[in-house]
Amino acid sequence: MRAERDALADRLRRSEARVKVLFDHSPVPVSVVSVADGRYTYVNRAYCEFYGRPAEYYLGTDPYQVWVEVTLPEEFEAERALFQRIADGEIEHYTIEKCFRLPNDQRAHGELTLTVTRDAQGRMHELVSVTRDLRSLRATQDAQRSLEEQLRRSQKLEVVGRMAGGVAHDFNNRLLIVMGYADMLRSELSEPRLLEMVEQITISAERSAELTKQLLAFSRRQRLSPKSVDVGETLSRMRRMLESLLSEKVELAVELGAAERLFCDPGQLEQVVLNLAINARDAMPSGGRLTLATRDVPPGAPELPAELARTHCVALDVSDTGAGIAAHVLPHIFEPFFTTKPLGLGTGLGLSTVEGIVRQSGGYVSVATREGAGTTVTAAFPVSDAALDLAPAPIELDLEARSGRLGTVLICDDDDAVRKLLADVLAIGSYRVLSACDGQQARALASGAAKIDLLVTDIVMPRTSGTELAAELRAMHPDALVLFVSGCVDPDALSSIQGEEFLAKPFLPAALLKRVREIIDARVSPSESGYHVPRSKPSS
Ligand SMILES: Nc1ncnc2c1ncn2[C@@H]1O[C@H](COP(=O)(O)OP(=O)(O)OP(=O)(O)O)[C@@H](O)[C@H]1O
Ligand SMILES: [Mg+2]
Repeated sequence: MRAERDALADRLRRSEARVKVLFDHSPVPVSVVSVADGRYTYVNRAYCEFYGRPAEYYLGTDPYQVWVEVTLPEEFEAERALFQRIADGEIEHYTIEKCFRLPNDQRAHGELTLTVTRDAQGRMHELVSVTRDLRSLRATQDAQRSLEEQLRRSQKLEVVGRMAGGVAHDFNNRLLIVMGYADMLRSELSEPRLLEMVEQITISAERSAELTKQLLAFSRRQRLSPKSVDVGETLSRMRRMLESLLSEKVELAVELGAAERLFCDPGQLEQVVLNLAINARDAMPSGGRLTLATRDVPPGAPELPAELARTHCVALDVSDTGAGIAAHVLPHIFEPFFTTKPLGLGTGLGLSTVEGIVRQSGGYVSVATREGAGTTVTAAFPVSDAALDLAPAPIELDLEARSGRLGTVLICDDDDAVRKLLADVLAIGSYRVLSACDGQQARALASGAAKIDLLVTDIVMPRTSGTELAAELRAMHPDALVLFVSGCVDPDALSSIQGEEFLAKPFLPAALLKRVREIIDARVSPSESGYHVPRSKPSS
């Protein structure tokens, strides 16, 4: 009997020792308060580290006083009520998330669980507290939030920049026409009253040109650097980052089905993926599945929009199993600043940015959604080698042949009114004018012409840029000279034509004629005009 009791006591001692080791070394703060004595009987090391004082302090202090010290006054009542329910025997434990007040005015976010143990008669015996430190979790969430905030801010600037740049660029073309025709009108007029009116038009247009310059400088248009991109590789590389943006309740699946590489700016492709993934996540607050899938869309596929019917594309489908998009919301989702999210959570620029990027890259965006069943947003880009097949079929060419006494000038500008003005001005200057609306048409005209003296071309044009066109033309007509005209003041775009002849839009007709004359004359006798025209060989 005695031996049995000893063995039992020994087992108990060993068990207690084991529990003590566990608590002592636990990284979780734990305390035990004896209800009968109203004082702490145990605190572990993690407890002292979290709450900020040595064990002696707690063991010698009234637990109620400690509770008052670490609890924010505005949280007293809520926790007191929970404690009352333990005292009344209604509940055995409670868990509360709180902001702890610590020594030296520190604050720490944590979760407290308080549990009561009772004796055989059901009386409260001990109160055991376990605290979960939520600070690092909070820090991660904050970092994630600030990352998203940064993305949003940079997008806002980008959209504003794109709008400003787009407006300024178009505006320069319009001003060129106002200034050009006003100037031609002046040369036809002799009545002082009418001349004065025309003068006012010119002055006002020149002032507007100044404003446009400022606007362009402000927006600092960023240049796209499209490349051949392996979208699968991009998605694999982004996977970790995407996972960190999703909650554990959202499962991420990547299905790579596209065989082709696509053609776009790699940084912008990442922005597209990020935006669509964040939207999908936000649509699934209680969890679900996010799928990123790629596939080829061959020419002629029914889903291709009419203008891309002959284009081979690679599609990226971003699908969620979320709430879907309501019929009355759907027509608006691509509008800049349209959002259904609470203030501060969405700027409504995500999808408009995505659409801008995809359109600029020559692709298309589409949405399929069912309320309650989820959404798939598709962003499709042309495959990398198809970029050159996009040009429309050659059309009947409008040749503006005048006397052509002074040489043949090939004009290329995608703006109809600008092209007509350039042609009118050069025709007045007695040049033979060939005019093309894009690289493809210019190529066709150049290959049919016996001689091209000068190419006057815009820099930024869809499909073939001015610099690409210039290179092609020089291959066909080694003697041809090139003059770039552009309303763009973007330093990147301008650096692509370094060493070339350049005239900034808007300009007056006389300035164009003077410049054209100088360039052509310089080729005949470089020493006389003083102009250096690189890459062209003096004709013999
Ligand atoms: N996957 C989706 N599921 C459900 N609704 C969506 C989804 N994607 C977009 N939407 C709807 O389209 C709206 C516009 O989306 P958009 O990405 O342009 O802006 P946002 O997400 O609200 O804000 P932010 O610019 O911060 O991304 C959203 O507010 C939402 O109502
Ligand atoms: Mg969004």
